[in-house]
Amino acid sequence: MGVRRSELVGLFLGFLYLSVTPPSSARFVVEKNSLRVTSPDKIKGTYDSAIGNFGIPQYGGSMAGAVLYPKENQKGCKEFSEFSISFQSKPGALPTFVLVDRGDCFFALKVWNAQKAGASAVLVADNMEEALITMDSPEEDGSSAKYIENITIPSALIEKSFGETLKKAISGGDMVNVNLDWREAVPHPDDRVEYELWTNSNDECGVKCDMLMEFVKNFKGAAQILEKGSYTQFTPHYITWYCPQAFTLSKQCKSQCINHGRYCAPDPEQDFSTGFEGKDVVLENLRQLCVFRVANETNKPWIWWDYVTDFQIRCPMKEKKYNKECADGVIKSLGLDAKKIEKCMGDADADSENPVLKEEQNAQVGKGSRGDVTILPTLVVNNRQYRGKLEKGAVLKAICSGFEETTEPAVCLSGDVETNECLDNNGGCWHDKKANVTACKDTFRGRVCECPLVDGVQFKGDGYTTCEASGPGRCKINNGGCWNESRDGHLYSACLDFGNSKCQCPPGFKGDGIKTCEDIDECKEKKACQCPECSCKNTWGSYECTCSGDLLYIKDHDTCISKRAAETKSAWAAVWIILIGLAMIGLGSYLIYKYRLRRYMDSEIRAIMAQYMPLDSQAEIPNHMNEDRA
Ligand SMILES: *[C@@H]1O[C@H](CO)[C@@H](O)[C@H](O)[C@H]1NC(C)=O
Ligand SMILES: *[C@@H]1O[C@H](CO)[C@@H](O)[C@H](O)[C@H]1NC(C)=O
Ligand SMILES: *[C@@H]1O[C@H](CO)[C@@H](O)[C@H](O)[C@H]1NC(C)=O
Ligand SMILES: *[C@@H]1O[C@H](CO)[C@@H](O)[C@H](O)[C@H]1NC(C)=O
Repeated sequence: MGVRRSELVGLFLGFLYLSVTPPSSARFVVEKNSLRVTSPDKIKGTYDSAIGNFGIPQYGGSMAGAVLYPKENQKGCKEFSEFSISFQSKPGALPTFVLVDRGDCFFALKVWNAQKAGASAVLVADNMEEALITMDSPEEDGSSAKYIENITIPSALIEKSFGETLKKAISGGDMVNVNLDWREAVPHPDDRVEYELWTNSNDECGVKCDMLMEFVKNFKGAAQILEKGSYTQFTPHYITWYCPQAFTLSKQCKSQCINHGRYCAPDPEQDFSTGFEGKDVVLENLRQLCVFRVANETNKPWIWWDYVTDFQIRCPMKEKKYNKECADGVIKSLGLDAKKIEKCMGDADADSENPVLKEEQNAQVGKGSRGDVTILPTLVVNNRQYRGKLEKGAVLKAICSGFEETTEPAVCLSGDVETNECLDNNGGCWHDKKANVTACKDTFRGRVCECPLVDGVQFKGDGYTTCEASGPGRCKINNGGCWNESRDGHLYSACLDFGNSKCQCPPGFKGDGIKTCEDIDECKEKKACQCPECSCKNTWGSYECTCSGDLLYIKDHDTCISKRAAETKSAWAAVWIILIGLAMIGLGSYLIYKYRLRRYMDSEIRAIMAQYMPLDSQAEIPNHMNEDRA
């Protein structure tokens, strides 16, 4: 079912596309750069070549190299390392331009294989006599196409006959030097560059959408500088299709189109029954066009870049926020006139033309040196389609090459077109992705790596490989780089705000304290709750111990005692205290009594006895008497 449905959508959209303009009148223009052979003399001259639609053409520049035609793997479809072939040129020698034959695999794969083997550029020789075509990247989104992103060398297709000429010269032992020249690839008539980006608000179409969104995000800064300085005039465009008259009432048209089939976009999931519909995409595209128009009216056209990037971040399809409500939030936060935008968008249910979208459909058709816009994304600079990777540096080069000499803005002359060196890999300085803290500071002369001060917390370290939050409050920032985790309302952290030890697992946990702290299984490791009556249950960060029967667990002593024994014992203790108290009182009074009585008796007896006998041994008598009385 799913397969059939997507096939249906595919066929249907093919139909829609073909209906934009009759195929016979569609115009495809191939963007060329010139290729000049500088040696050997017999083939010296200028030849045409078509710029590949991937890699990085050196717009505005030129590049000299020596052509090499490999003895094996001549189509370049396999890795050159399998044949022990390397194109790495020796220091001081001209870079290597590899000549490969068309056929058997994607153009992009040939270029990628050559780049990996050290080539600086690739010339693909056509395998039939025909007018030059544009080498495009494969449409498929599979992992096989991932390498396309990593192609950084330029490539060009050359005619079959010219390919033969080059091969003949090379096999004859000639040193073949060529100059690839992109200086005339973009017209540069005056001091303002007009450029257009054909884009789409759909954020769920795979690699191509991701690439486009990434580009818009990265290019925003440069685009705004150029626009604010009036160096450029930028216009965003959106492709729409229309539904053939006979189908306007079909389910497909109703779900993918607005204004009774006049303006359509493909269903994002290629499934009419779930998720967002093509209609939603057309509406958002229309909104973005209107955002541009309203912003342009207030002479701040660059706000479009803010809107589009904010919308991507705040209203993605993935989070089901791709809707009017979310868009209105973005419009409001940018201070745009929401009423004007509504008015510009018009009524999507009306059975009439929408002037804004009508204009877009007209603009889709090629004019002058530019062909029809048929692929997304497409960048047009000075009415010439840009070829190459959609990447900030490469695109900026193309735009800069569109200025008349000496009128280019400073941003084009800075040698390194990338102005903020910290944007790329944090300038190679230390950074903490999780806490979004970097030691990179962009300065006029480049960048420095210096541990930062964040929220009043000073980081210390060399700034390149280490920076650590130090001092009070350090746990506020990314938890001091220490482990933390919360479960069932219990939060445990290995960060200590004070003291010098960096990270320490809290009691009940073991580990390095940085990446991991693991719960200690107190029961298994016989750390607690081991008495015969105890039954142990491990919990996260602690344990629970219960005792069998009437017994009570005393955590401090890690033992079980009887509840009753505990009660009687304490009663006895009280009794004992009373008894001991009484005994002491008794003893005390006895001692006092005895002492006093004895003193009294002693004197009395002595007096009586002295009346009857002489006392020669006084010591003995009281002793006996004492004994008798006891
Ligand atoms: C492309 O480059 C990125 C980063 O440089 C790397 O992670 C990735 O593996 C590369 N992809 C291929 C297919 O080589
Ligand atoms: C934007 O404004 C400029 C001048 O203010 C105008 O020339 C241009 O046509 C406008 N662009 C659009 C798409 O309305
Ligand atoms: C990181 O912080 C910088 C400014 O300090 C901000 O511009 C950037 O968007 C942040 N990045 C993330 C991923 O939060
Ligand atoms: C851990 O600490 C970080 C940084 O302070 C914080 O953002 C995060 O919410 C904490 N995690 C938990 C589970 O509390």
